[in-house]
Amino acid sequence: MAIISIASTKGGVGKTSLAFSLAKDLGYRYATNDMSIVLNKYRNARYYPNKIPLYPDTVYDFGGFVDTNADEILRQSDIILLPTINDLNSIMKSLILIKNFREKTILVFANMIDNPSDATLIREKIHEHFPNLAFTYLRRTKLLKNALESGMSASELYEMNNHTQHLYKQAYAEYQKILKLFTTDGAYFSK
Ligand SMILES: Nc1ncnc2c1ncn2[C@@H]1O[C@H](COP(=O)(O)OP(=O)(O)OP(=O)(O)O)[C@@H](O)[C@H]1O
Ligand SMILES: [Mg+2]
Repeated sequence: MAIISIASTKGGVGKTSLAFSLAKDLGYRYATNDMSIVLNKYRNARYYPNKIPLYPDTVYDFGGFVDTNADEILRQSDIILLPTINDLNSIMKSLILIKNFREKTILVFANMIDNPSDATLIREKIHEHFPNLAFTYLRRTKLLKNALESGMSASELYEMNNHTQHLYKQAYAEYQKILKLFTTDGAYFSK
């Protein structure tokens, strides 16, 4: 049983894309306070414009704005995934969110990384203020976008055929690192 929240006050950093694939791969509910295409693509997706309920086995996708009800769910979550792109404004917003949720388990997820050295830079900037905070990254890839558009999770899309396995090899490995945290051999939870 796990409650996973994906949040950032910066828009367009990859919350919805990641939330959908993780939810589908884990067989979790997807819940959001923000309209998203996931609602048309995933049977287990629900939209709560007002009060968003707390459920186990759920991935929450919180729109890039502050919502007092989102705050409550974030405080109850087992983990907060914080997507951050290589942009000073995004990093600054992430630092503020980390500060506000200091007591929580947070995984900083550097997204749309063009170069591994960019991920290192983001990690260093975060660790300057919050040493030891868990950190991972995903390169710039069409994996999550094409997965969501096809209604398949990132794993399902990857496993489809040799072509997709070739195309998404590295991005898939990075995605699996995140997914594995929540499955049987993972660091955070096991079923
Ligand atoms: N690793 C990645 N590489 C390249 N593009 C990506 C990556 N992750 C997400 N994207 C793309 O970035 C765009 C924004 O992603 P997404 O909608 O998931 O962000 P969001 O944080 O949910 O945005 P919003 O704040 O508007 O809800 C989409 O077009 C998505 O396909
Ligand atoms: Mg979104």
